[in-house]
Amino acid sequence: MEAITNRVEDCILLQLPKIHNRAGNITPIHENQEVPFKIKRIYYLYDIPGGEARGGHAHRDLYQLLVAASGSFEVELDDACQKKTIPLNHPDKGLLIVPGIWRELVNFSSGAICLVLASNHYAESDYYRDYKEYQNFKHADTSNR
Ligand code: TYD
Repeated sequence: MEAITNRVEDCILLQLPKIHNRAGNITPIHENQEVPFKIKRIYYLYDIPGGEARGGHAHRDLYQLLVAASGSFEVELDDACQKKTIPLNHPDKGLLIVPGIWRELVNFSSGAICLVLASNHYAESDYYRDYKEYQNFKHADTSNR
């Protein structure tokens, strides 16, 4: 999938497995099974102060799966053409974000934890952090589409 052509609708909400018994639930996630990429990095966002937003960038090549491991938040997706807001509020749901999608994470509940599985290591060169630059990238070369 190409960062330039990827659209908001390419980001899909995945139902993750849930192993349930009386003592609670387990959700296992394997690379190339529940998520369509090789998992090279896991990180999580926590202790997010009330009213704060995270994200505010797009990635050139990175695939990510976002899970509300605890609490809830919303993910605002934007492909420089269309926007969509996805609420995440259960650990057995994962939002797949493909490369080339601007995202902002907002409305974190108190104590929320956002677990992220990523297809590559951290690299600042993979980020679009300037929205104008991102828009120019997405709107470039429209004659070929
Ligand atoms: P950033 O991805 O901008 O955070 P968010 O999207 O949650 O607001 O990263 C914030 C800072 O943390 C930035 O300086 C880079 C650093 N960072 C790492 O060093 N490694 C990582 O895996 C991540 C995700 C961020």
